Amino acid sequence: MFDKLQKKWGISGWRFFWVMIVFAFTGTTAAWLTAKITGWMNIESYSFAWWSLKIGMLLIGYQILLLSYGFIFGQFAFFWQYERKILASMRILPKLPVPAKLIVFASGAGSNAKRLIEYFNDDAEKSKIARVTLIVCNKPEAGVIEIAEKAGIPVKMINRKELEIGAYDKELSKAGQWIILAGFLLKIPPSLIQMFPQRIINIHPALLPLHGGNGMYGRHVHEAVLATGAMETGITIHFVNDKYDQGPTIFQARVMLDQNETPTTIASKIHELEHRHYPEQIEMLVVNAKNSLKTKK
Ligand code: GAR
Repeated sequence: MFDKLQKKWGISGWRFFWVMIVFAFTGTTAAWLTAKITGWMNIESYSFAWWSLKIGMLLIGYQILLLSYGFIFGQFAFFWQYERKILASMRILPKLPVPAKLIVFASGAGSNAKRLIEYFNDDAEKSKIARVTLIVCNKPEAGVIEIAEKAGIPVKMINRKELEIGAYDKELSKAGQWIILAGFLLKIPPSLIQMFPQRIINIHPALLPLHGGNGMYGRHVHEAVLATGAMETGITIHFVNDKYDQGPTIFQARVMLDQNETPTTIASKIHELEHRHYPEQIEMLVVNAKNSLKTKK
């Protein structure tokens, strides 16, 4: 049950602990205050005043206590987003745009995942458009896990077999609207592609259709580029379909290569391009999808 709640709220283990502490303090204080006020004012049980006090405490007192304890335990932002929604539904405050939830799949160092978190989650304006709410990973030793933990984003560990048979499809379709591959090496099964039509995006460290396909990832790609003696390489951002690195291209960017490049120097040029363009391209896709939904309505 706790596990489900934690996923629903999209918060890490420690954050969840402090949120539960706030609930515990709030509940206890609200009950204590209600009992005290009943005593001080000599209110008879089940009288009109007694019910008014109970309902008033629940509707107003409890919410104020929740925010106060939230502030004391450093969880104000978490509780405020819910209070804000309630106030908006009562038309006391204007409605907030709902950010798209991005599920980032990564199995490596995670520099792209980190950049996406910085770009969306750490920026007040961009986080109204989209937020990284879940990291999916298939390697327990991957650097991206520490990055997610530091950012307070939950991590879902998966394995190849279960992914292939669609065991995670339903859960993922509930967890977010977009799947962003950022150095993820397993093949995405057709069932998942169907659940996220035109909403699974990949970044490849070469100018596709060059140097793509099964086994072409990270350093292998840069070595292949070097072996051809090419004077330029680049990145490709594309939709994912059921064939490795063959989905429709969204964006490409190029970079010149020198005579004395190594796979390491190429990797750093590629990362620079990826970090600059990937978040911007995703933002554009999310905004366009939101706008086309609005025009359909
Ligand atoms: C990135 O360069 C990405 O393009 C590549 O893996 C690297 C992950 O780096 N992806 C592929 O090769 C997919 N075929 P990161 O873990 O530092 O983000």
